[in-house]
Formats: sequence, C-alpha cells, structure tokens
Amino acid sequence: MLLKLGGSAITTKEKHFTPDVEAIMRLVEEIKHADVSPLILVHGGGSFGHPVAKQYLINEGYTDSSQIIGFSKTHQAMTVLNNLVVDSLINQGIPAIAVPASSCIITKSGRIESFEKGPLIKMLELGFLPVLYGDAVLDSDIDFTILSGDQLVSSLAMSLNAERIIIGVDVDGLYTADPKTDLSARFIQHITLTELKRLQHRVGEGKVTDVTGGMPRKIQELIPAVEQGVPVIIVNATKPNNIYKALRGQEVVGTEIERA
Ligand code: IPE
Repeated sequence: MLLKLGGSAITTKEKHFTPDVEAIMRLVEEIKHADVSPLILVHGGGSFGHPVAKQYLINEGYTDSSQIIGFSKTHQAMTVLNNLVVDSLINQGIPAIAVPASSCIITKSGRIESFEKGPLIKMLELGFLPVLYGDAVLDSDIDFTILSGDQLVSSLAMSLNAERIIIGVDVDGLYTADPKTDLSARFIQHITLTELKRLQHRVGEGKVTDVTGGMPRKIQELIPAVEQGVPVIIVNATKPNNIYKALRGQEVVGTEIERA
C-alpha cells in the first residue's frame, strides 16, 4: 500500500520551515496502529521544500549557475523535514528508512525517466518502511527540476502493482465545484475516472506557494495509476483517525477514485 502525506498535513504551509510536529506524531501513531505491510510512505514539501524551490526556480530547470546552490538548499530542506518524519517512525519502533528521490531517480522534462528500485524492493522484502519525499532531482533534458510526491506515489503504485493509494491532505476530498465560492458545490464520496475527467478543470486551486501545482495537478498525476486499476482515496489527514481508517480499509470520509 502507498500512503502520501501532503506537505499541508505535516507542516504549517504559510510559515517557512515550520513542521507540524504534533500532526507528525499523531500520524505516525496512526500508521503504527494500522500495522499495514508492505507500506511505502511518501511525504510532500509543504513549508520546507516549496519556498526554497520557488525562490531558485528549481522546477523550471537550469537557466543560471546561481540555481545550483538552490538545488542543494531545496534538497536539504526536504531532508530536515524527512528526518523529523523518519525519527518519529523509528521512535515508535517502525523500521523506517529514507529513500531520497534525488539519489535514485532521473527525470526527463519533469517526468520520471529512470528509477533504481533495487534497494527499495529489497527493503520491502525485509520489512522496512521506505520513506520517500518530493525532492529536487536531476533531469536529462533540463538538468534539474522538482519531482512531486504525487508523481512518485503514482509511479510507484503502477510499477509495484499497489493495492491502493491513500492521499492525506488538509481538505476532506474533492467537491463538484469550489466550496468556498460556489454554493452548489457538493462533496464527492466516490467518483469514477470518466466522471473525474469531466470534472477535472473545475477542481479548486490552492492559493499558497506550491511549485508542483496544487489539487488539479495532484489529480492529473494520480489518473494513470487509477487507469491501471489502483484505487485512490483522498482523505483529510489533519483529522484524527482518518489515515488509520484509510490504511485499515475502513469506512472514512473522503473521496474514492476508481477506474469504474
Ligand atoms: C514537493 O513535493 C517537494 C519540493 C518542493 C521539494 P510535493 O509537491 O509532493 O509537496 P506537497 O505535498 O504539495 O507539499
């Protein structure tokens, strides 16, 4: 199973370099109690990766040598957040291990081109919980870019034939329109791929600094995995027990996306 914890669920997105330590600890406990194996955890950047990546235009590729230090800073910011997550998991007795995308992936114009999965697969076989994260990565066309955690989960789910993808964010799921501006907006509990594609352009855009594109981009990234038969459920990870329930396959408030 694959679990993505969005940066919005584990950091305070509006304040640079601010982890939500309480949320991280609670989520780690939920992961522990759910006791799902094999599991891969992927987390986002939130207030760690995004502001630095944006400052140095890392997602636009190499245009100026001054960006090189920005690439280092972006990756380093992500390792700080990742350390907090991995430390919390280990403190709960979970054998978590960080797998930096920057060391095993090369993209081509932003899309994963090569991914060395040997170590990751061996880790799963041995009962480790690999923890990946959205990262600054090298790119064969544009020299470097930002790889989102969403592209990572989708790609991993497809190549490892995952049972399910759980996406933990700071909203309950998808609506038929933006609930903040449209009174007719309805919450979507279940949606098929065809219905989703019809609705895609209407899904509301987040306003905070997000170099990897917010909810519409998230959906776009997940569609290939759903097309291949991996169901996706989007839940609010800031509400206690949602991640636990989703991991256990229990009923939970959220948006389930299925092929048909
Ligand atoms: C972004 O990852 C990582 C960096 C900016 C380095 P994501 O795109 O998966 O992060 P969130 O979940 O939107 O914060």
